Amino acid sequence: MAIPHLRVRKALAQRALTVVKRLGLLSVEHRVLRNSEHLFIPLTRGLSEREMHLVGGEVGEFGIDFREGVLRRKRPRDLVEALEDKLPPYLLSMLPKSYDLIGDIAIVEVPSELEPYKRDIGEALLRIHPHIRLVLRKASAVSGVYRTRDYEVLVGSGSTETLHKEYGISLLLDTSRVYFSPRLAYERQRVASLVKEGEVVVDMFAGVGPFAIHIAKRVPRVLVYAIDINPDAYHYLLRNIELNRVQAKVKPMLGDCREMIDRALVGRADRVVMNLPEKAEEYLPWACRALKAEGGVIHFYCFSEEPEAVEKAVERALAGVERGGRSVMEVLAKRRVKAVAPYQWQIGLDLMVA
Ligand SMILES: C[S@@+](CC[C@H](N)C(=O)[O-])C[C@H]1O[C@@H](n2cnc3c(N)ncnc32)[C@H](O)[C@@H]1O
Repeated sequence: MAIPHLRVRKALAQRALTVVKRLGLLSVEHRVLRNSEHLFIPLTRGLSEREMHLVGGEVGEFGIDFREGVLRRKRPRDLVEALEDKLPPYLLSMLPKSYDLIGDIAIVEVPSELEPYKRDIGEALLRIHPHIRLVLRKASAVSGVYRTRDYEVLVGSGSTETLHKEYGISLLLDTSRVYFSPRLAYERQRVASLVKEGEVVVDMFAGVGPFAIHIAKRVPRVLVYAIDINPDAYHYLLRNIELNRVQAKVKPMLGDCREMIDRALVGRADRVVMNLPEKAEEYLPWACRALKAEGGVIHFYCFSEEPEAVEKAVERALAGVERGGRSVMEVLAKRRVKAVAPYQWQIGLDLMVA
């Protein structure tokens, strides 16, 4: 149905929205429309002469167009759609394009320019994802041996513990006490799909157990040693082994993987997973030590910068394996796993090591 829209130049959008709202004329069930130059604000009715005068006083030049009203979806599709009548256009373009959903918690990065709107962003995420109960803002970088970060609660309630599901496995975890990234779900599934029956796997930096549990769930006969140094991650690792009923296949170990390998796992593994990208190189000699005498596969992750991010990662991995007294027979796969900053990647390499 055609309804009146107030047409204003984009630069005047915020003022126009404010005056239209103040006069009670904004049609909240319709979407604000736009083209390259103008915004079209949906109105509940045409303006009286007095209202024309008031709007003109605020925004100067404007027009009234009768055009097809576009009904708002009950649930907005993304942050721009959810906040288009709250934020001025230049701030809409700064809204985060992505965020993490871990169980019933959303984690979002809010740039300082959007500080005054951080709670609106939180509320918007609750509207977009009705199953979310808590929205956290990243308040620091990932840091320390345990690879955790600080968060600020934006909206919602309850604790930072949640139950996350991916590819049919359940992972209980506390987002503020352990490392976990839902963006690695495909990578974990990919690695699990490569494991063959009968293999022994060492997961050197297991966290709450996602790689180990994916492997155990997928492969009928397999043994995974899952090591982590963070007692909280270990606590959830134990819970997740139970939750997914893989007690017979995943052996949890609490401590420094270098000590654990030297103490109990030298020459035991067909495959080693090394998901500690900021330090993996340093630990390559221990991954080599864990492999069987005849060799095996190392899933190596590191951060690397363009240009030639992948090539640089391969060079570093080859040198690290040499330091471990072994050699890389073949690089079976190389991938940019995820972007971590402009021109910076987490790279994943599958190394066949002899
Ligand atoms: C980037 S997280 C990866 C966790 C998990 N693989 C995942 O995908 O969610 C790295 C993990 O390594 C653990 N870690 C760091 N240094 C370690 C060490 N020397 N020995 C064992 N675990 C370590 C941290 O506590 C953290 O849980």
